[in-house]
Amino acid sequence: MCIQQHRRPRRRSLTHKLLRGLADPRDAWNYLRRWTQLARHTGLPYAELSRYRRELRANREFHEHLERCLVDIEYSFSCSAELYELVRATKPRINIETEVAAGLSSVHVLVALDANGMGMLHSIDLPNVQHGSNLRAGPAPGWMVPDGLRQRWHLHIGDSRTLLAELLRPLHHVDLFLHDSDHSYETMLFELEHAFPKLADGGLLLSDDTQLHTAWDDFCAKHGLRPARVFHLGVTRKPFAGASLPATTCTASLN
Ligand SMILES: C[S@@+](CC[C@H](N)C(=O)[O-])C[C@H]1O[C@@H](n2cnc3c(N)ncnc32)[C@H](O)[C@@H]1O
Repeated sequence: MCIQQHRRPRRRSLTHKLLRGLADPRDAWNYLRRWTQLARHTGLPYAELSRYRRELRANREFHEHLERCLVDIEYSFSCSAELYELVRATKPRINIETEVAAGLSSVHVLVALDANGMGMLHSIDLPNVQHGSNLRAGPAPGWMVPDGLRQRWHLHIGDSRTLLAELLRPLHHVDLFLHDSDHSYETMLFELEHAFPKLADGGLLLSDDTQLHTAWDDFCAKHGLRPARVFHLGVTRKPFAGASLPATTCTASLN
């Protein structure tokens, strides 16, 4: 757990962001574009996603916790806010992610599940002493997840190539699956292929770092899915049986 505070939390005003946008219009354009892409790729209303984005920004306690923890994290998960919005908008009950590290993505899913008042997150990660872990010796996977958000969390320690099939076997379905573990072509494809048959109709399939090779595109092509991306995060939904995804998807169908 991150307890120590090494620097004061940084709060950026809207004016600060607008000024930054004027200073670097390409940055501002990319920032706006990723939100419209997220709405388009998921069939979720842009206004609803924006509302949840504002909700996340307004969660001061959560942001102060993040700021304290980020001091000790040497990597980033750039689509955390998008993950939060997707979980808030689709109200998924069963969520699985392969990876944890410090827990940036986990904590965003968990705070969204907490706000939804339902759902569980299963996370699979290697122990931090194992080759492939990007935690230095000491902290446990998910160290930044506060106690108050752990009730909806099951952390499974081990290799996804063994644990994922075991975890999926008894589950009737999965509403959201996120790959962010070993990004080799083989492991990414292995995880996506294992998760996909259990994914509910309309379920969200996400994969980070899809720019590294063609596993995401090959997988999507094989299953007739749109190989959509928001930045480097692959984002797609399993079509409803007998239908292509509607432009706007009813969130109730995922409950
Ligand atoms: C990029 S980090 C995940 C970052 C995390 N999403 C976050 O937001 O903080 C990749 C993680 O995948 C884990 N990993 C790598 N290979 C794995 C495997 N075969 N099975 C399970 N976890 C694995 C590593 O231990 C590491 O913690």
